[in-house]
Amino acid sequence: MEIRSRMLSSRLHRGQQETATRSSLVRAGAVVGAAVAGVAARDVWQREHAILRNFPLLGRMRFLLESVGPELRQYIVASNDEERPFSRDQRRWVYASSKRQINTFGFGTDNDYEQSESLVVFKQSPFPETAPAKGEPGAAPDYALPAAKVLGAAHHRRGAFRAPSLVNISGMSYGSLSPVAVQALNRGAALAGCLHNTGEGGLADAHRCGGELIFQIGTGYFGCRDEHGHFSLERLCQRLQEAPVRAIEIKLSQGAKPGLGGLLPAAKVTEEIARIRGVPAYRDCASPSSHSAFGDVDGLIEFVERVADATGLPVGIKSAVGDDAFWERLAARMAATGGGPDFITLDGGEGGTGAAPLAFSDHVALPFKLAIARVYPVFARAGIGEDVVFIGAGRLGFPDAALHALALGCDMINVGREAMLAVGCIQAQRCHTGSCPTGVATHNRWLMRGLDPDIKHARAANYIVALRAELLSLARACGARHPALIDPDRLEVVSTPYDSTPLRELFGYEAEWPLLSNGRRIEAQELIGRPATRPAPGPVAGEHAGFPGAGDPSRSHMDARSRGETASEAG
Ligand SMILES: Cc1cc2nc3c(=O)[nH]c(=O)nc-3n(C[C@H](O)[C@H](O)[C@H](O)COP(=O)(O)O)c2cc1C
Ligand code: SF4
Repeated sequence: MEIRSRMLSSRLHRGQQETATRSSLVRAGAVVGAAVAGVAARDVWQREHAILRNFPLLGRMRFLLESVGPELRQYIVASNDEERPFSRDQRRWVYASSKRQINTFGFGTDNDYEQSESLVVFKQSPFPETAPAKGEPGAAPDYALPAAKVLGAAHHRRGAFRAPSLVNISGMSYGSLSPVAVQALNRGAALAGCLHNTGEGGLADAHRCGGELIFQIGTGYFGCRDEHGHFSLERLCQRLQEAPVRAIEIKLSQGAKPGLGGLLPAAKVTEEIARIRGVPAYRDCASPSSHSAFGDVDGLIEFVERVADATGLPVGIKSAVGDDAFWERLAARMAATGGGPDFITLDGGEGGTGAAPLAFSDHVALPFKLAIARVYPVFARAGIGEDVVFIGAGRLGFPDAALHALALGCDMINVGREAMLAVGCIQAQRCHTGSCPTGVATHNRWLMRGLDPDIKHARAANYIVALRAELLSLARACGARHPALIDPDRLEVVSTPYDSTPLRELFGYEAEWPLLSNGRRIEAQELIGRPATRPAPGPVAGEHAGFPGAGDPSRSHMDARSRGETASEAG
């Protein structure tokens, strides 16, 4: 009896213990569940990271993998320079710059310096230019870097102007980019003091957030077409009343899909997009492969002049580079008539797009550097190299690539996908599907919610400013105050085995190219800081170099400062 009652009580005890364990597990589960729900709610409501906002909890995996990525990749996957279109190092630089985090890299290069197939090397000057002092043009915090040439000056356009920023935002149409992305870019452009190209999708409300614009006219004439789809000068002039448009760009082609029109599927042609483009809603919206307003070089020049006369604005063209004869004819006719485009935007075959067939993206049009080296000399030889402003695009949104382009004759740089990275793009390469996970290239409401323009516009501006800052400092290292003063002699291309070729020789540039008249040289110098005073050799020379008394023969030259003992910077 006693044994039975003891067994009963022990069973009861075990039962109580199990119940207690179960209820503590339930409690622990509830606490964990609440914590997870709390983190998920926080992810949904925070505004810093689009990927977390759109994919609560799951998005954290990306940050985790990113943080341990370098260690993992050493054993498993690709190097920091392998991925395309933008390598991990390039993306890291854009992300860090856009968040104003440390954008320098430690421990030295991970490029295989001597075994590279085509490593571009800048030959630094023994006497680098000094940085502008605080408050001078080109100094922090906005690193102002105006273009060296004036848009529309050569053709005496009424609205000729000097672009306040040599770096500007490339045309990416409203429709291929989301309204929030366009808004972030436009506000970013206003903050960074640069121009924002509308792309060929017309002018949306998101383009009217303060940033100055270049209005792009594509083959569909969206925003400036009549009811038959033909160009309408009257509608163009109406558009110009509605926003701060400073110049007009006629798009002949784009690097990622030259010679090909475009199609916005019916589902994406919302009421708003239909209104902006001037097309019927929810019907396929096609842009033809070529213009109906002109069909040859003379027609193009006449069209440019007609638009420039009516609007007073500088008018340019955008094109990828294929047929050589077109450029020869254009330069010859421009030289003969004194008219034609004020600027030429050259897009490299490596350029981006919302969607294109692989064969077009991979195999049509020259890559940017070959493109500029093909076109610039044609205009230089025709005697109008100085009159045209050359703008480059095609992965040029990095200081080295931008300076390389300038050395080959470019005057300004456009950044497209790099600016997308700055506002949150993670290079998922799903822009054509409408399900961009970061809200940059989609019209899905939930996904767009992730991209907060209040935060991301500052990121776009920070990136542009950081690019200007490093472009300026790279030029200074090469002995030039303004990057436009860098010529091809400053660059060499290293290739295996232990070979290297000067850029000028590689691209066959003549001794005086890119042309920059003395007057324009002086002008460019004066756009940044103050002229460097280089005193004659003597005691004061030491003072000038920043070593007080270093030129004084009574002092030892190797004082503490010149040995770098007081240097406080890392590296
Ligand atoms: C999503 C997307 C949309 C684009 N839309 C246009 C456009 O409407 N008009 C145009 O001329 N180029 C367009 N482009 C091309 C860019 O303006 C740019 O020339 C090209 O991407 C090269 O610059 P990047 O390497 O800095 O991106 C688009 C590019 C992307 C990625
Ligand atoms: S789909 Fe990918 S590559 Fe395209 S914008 Fe979105 S994040 Fe960037």
